Amino acid sequence: MKFFIDTADVKEIREAAAMGLVDGVTTNPSLVAKTGRKFRDVLLEICDLVKGPVSAEVVGTQHDAIMAEARELAGLRPNIVVKIPLIPEGLKAVRTCSGEGIKTNVTLCFSATQALLAAKAGAAYISPFVGRLDDVSTNGMQLIGEIVQIYQNYDFPTEVLVASVRHPMHVHEAAMIGAHVATCPLSVLLQLSKHPLTDAGLAKFLADWEKVPK
Ligand code: E4P
Repeated sequence: MKFFIDTADVKEIREAAAMGLVDGVTTNPSLVAKTGRKFRDVLLEICDLVKGPVSAEVVGTQHDAIMAEARELAGLRPNIVVKIPLIPEGLKAVRTCSGEGIKTNVTLCFSATQALLAAKAGAAYISPFVGRLDDVSTNGMQLIGEIVQIYQNYDFPTEVLVASVRHPMHVHEAAMIGAHVATCPLSVLLQLSKHPLTDAGLAKFLADWEKVPK
């Protein structure tokens, strides 16, 4: 299972990379806005840090506008994956990108049929947002299971990228289901390593070590 970090904050990417937890990076306009920096500057810095795929989102909503952004973004660095919203014009652009060899991550996916369309259009990744579904009393992880099953049924190469991850159970369930990727905020990546018995056990070992004659 691959771990991407869901941030545009270069400091956070460095911290996660030091733990070997950055197979890739996902950004979105909200995450970029939080940095207070120019999109292009942030993106290039991230691409210099990370060898794996870096998702950069378009803001156009019509095919031609999306394609102008997609071509520009994809031309910046070879590891940039163009993130496109799951709307009809977006799907057209995904299809065009696929024909031009531009990798896409289709974002804002909230249903299995949307995911099916993204795969048929030639997306490299589909990003179902589990946390936002949970927020509206809908089981986000159930959707992941359905998409993985549908992609397996028809041998689609599109990778399921679990997005809007809010806590370790999302990652645990995604791994049990066999999703290809989970993109997590740094806080969740750090939480994954935590266990109170680990902390208590370490405290006891260190206390007992003090009793060992030196
Ligand atoms: C990543 O691709 C998504 O943009 C992100 O995971 C959304 O997360 P949020 O629902 O916590 O904003």
